[in-house]
Amino acid sequence: MEELQTQKNTALEAIEAAGSLDAVEALRVDALGKQGWISQLLKTLGKMTPEERQEKAPAIQQARAEVADAIAARKDALENAELDRRLATETLDLSLPAPDEARGTVHPVSQVMDELAEIFADLGFAVKTGPEVEDDWHNFTALNMDEHHPARAMHDTFYFPDRDKEDRAMLLRTHTSPVQIRTMVNEGAPVRIIAPGRVYRSDSDATHTPMFHQVEGLVIDRDIHLGHLKWTLETFLKAFFERDDIVLRLRPSYFPFTEPSVEVDVGFEIVKGRRVLGGSGDAPGHAWMELLGSGMVNRRVIEFAGLDPDEWQGFAFGVGVDRLAMLKYGMDDLRAFFDGDIRWLQHYGFSPYDQPTLSAGVGAPA
Ligand code: PHE
Repeated sequence: MEELQTQKNTALEAIEAAGSLDAVEALRVDALGKQGWISQLLKTLGKMTPEERQEKAPAIQQARAEVADAIAARKDALENAELDRRLATETLDLSLPAPDEARGTVHPVSQVMDELAEIFADLGFAVKTGPEVEDDWHNFTALNMDEHHPARAMHDTFYFPDRDKEDRAMLLRTHTSPVQIRTMVNEGAPVRIIAPGRVYRSDSDATHTPMFHQVEGLVIDRDIHLGHLKWTLETFLKAFFERDDIVLRLRPSYFPFTEPSVEVDVGFEIVKGRRVLGGSGDAPGHAWMELLGSGMVNRRVIEFAGLDPDEWQGFAFGVGVDRLAMLKYGMDDLRAFFDGDIRWLQHYGFSPYDQPTLSAGVGAPA
């Protein structure tokens, strides 16, 4: 008994004097750890007779409680002292600027697609998307491209080995025009949409990549004519290039899915080695550049899509998004678009905080 009291007092004094958390921990192990002297005493209780246990247990339990409390109190005190010390010595300057974190940029293709959506939304066009893995009915047949059309050949188009549930050949869509069909079939008429997205062709050099981007436009309504097409393209290109002097030249052309078909050229001049759009291509120092394909939707396409071509007419156009981006922002190698080189992206990319809006100007360079 005497001995227990002495041992306990020695421990309590040592705890009270402990100068660090490590020292407190060592004292805890010494007393209350598995081999600690209090733990050992507690073990001896099990081997005693009930009478003996009743006599000795309270003092041992008491010693354990006192030592445990003293350890907790000392730990608390030391931790508080440490906190006080840090509060007194460390300072945090909240007026310092936040560390400069690497910030991503919006790819020019995404930027241009956002700009297109913004411009066409203002003209009442909705944005539609379609699958990049298409079937040959939507990509070719319904667009009036028959079995013998050269675009259907294996060397121009990426086919999948398997056919779909309806036994149609599967392929990577070669243009965004199948979205015309899907929209008319799903939603009927009238239609006023653009459909931006990826398309694929078996082509690769400085101006062609096997994957590139197009935006399709489709308007179907009553009494739509070529004048609507021309006005829409002019309005769009003036807004997109932020110039009022955009001049278009419509040339007769051929697409199976439009009749008549028109190729649209735009006047430009070379300024400091760069193509700058504006002015008539016939003006001195100017030339015409082919920009996009378009036309009045072929009656057969309207029929394929389940509408009555005597009631509904419309126009469609398709334009390369990458090409629009190159022209507007002055990049000259298409392949760099898809290299994923972070330096190129930092240089040509746009701040995610500058969303294009018509009022603020669609995509003045960041
Ligand atoms: N789909 C055509 C192409 O990829 C472009 C186009 C679209 C032409 C709509 C006319 C009408 O070349």
